[in-house]
Amino acid sequence: MNTFTTVDSVREHRAGLEGQVGCVPTMGALHDGHLALVRRALAENEHVFVTLFVNPKQFNDPADLAAYPRRDVEDIDLLNEAGVTAVFMPSADSIYSPEDTYLVNESLESLDRCGSARPGHFSGVLTVVMKLLNILAPDRAYFGEKDFQQLELIRGMVAAFFMRIDIIGVPTVRLSDGLALSSRNALLGPAERALAPHLFQCLQSNDSDRVVTDKLEQAGFTVDYIQTLKNRRFGAVFLGEGKRQVRLIDNVRLKR
Ligand code: PAF
Repeated sequence: MNTFTTVDSVREHRAGLEGQVGCVPTMGALHDGHLALVRRALAENEHVFVTLFVNPKQFNDPADLAAYPRRDVEDIDLLNEAGVTAVFMPSADSIYSPEDTYLVNESLESLDRCGSARPGHFSGVLTVVMKLLNILAPDRAYFGEKDFQQLELIRGMVAAFFMRIDIIGVPTVRLSDGLALSSRNALLGPAERALAPHLFQCLQSNDSDRVVTDKLEQAGFTVDYIQTLKNRRFGAVFLGEGKRQVRLIDNVRLKR
């Protein structure tokens, strides 16, 4: 497996490839949800790049950035076993030079749900995704439906900027108790881990958003938002106390 850390070296490698190229952007700490994206990309393309980059611009809270799990060695082993041939793991400086004053902004959908609680979050996401897609020039890029708002904003960006890339959404991978796989699950203590699947169960219920919020608060979650939009219910909650608070998000398509 080739591992690239600089923009020039990965571009040179990309320029020599023939056939369809898929890209799976990640922030590492890989789990089966990421591997579902990787497997889909491997099945649909001759070449697959996985990016491992904890993007500082999408964290509005420095403590959250510092706590974000990093497992580069394990990630590279997992990708090797999965059959990935190219990993791009740039430094923050090579993606954001000190002179770089550019950001991709979306001015409507990025401001509600996760965007209202995390100002600037989606500008950071869209900016880094635009950069990674420009560097790697893939035919297809793969994103999980767990981050459904992110997926829709990336689709919108690609359409708005006439980018010739297919954005593929891959269904959320869940544990047997319904908890959506997330790198942040590794930060949950045993009691929080036991409570966490309740989010998925409540999102699926026929209750109103207000009632779901109340039930989650009573169960011990701090609710950021519960919001139904276009027949899909979105939720973000916190588990734990103080600096050890972990933010979880999920969404389900409603059957009614
Ligand atoms: O979903 C993520 O892991 C990140 O938001 C992404 C798309 C890799 C951009 O940093």
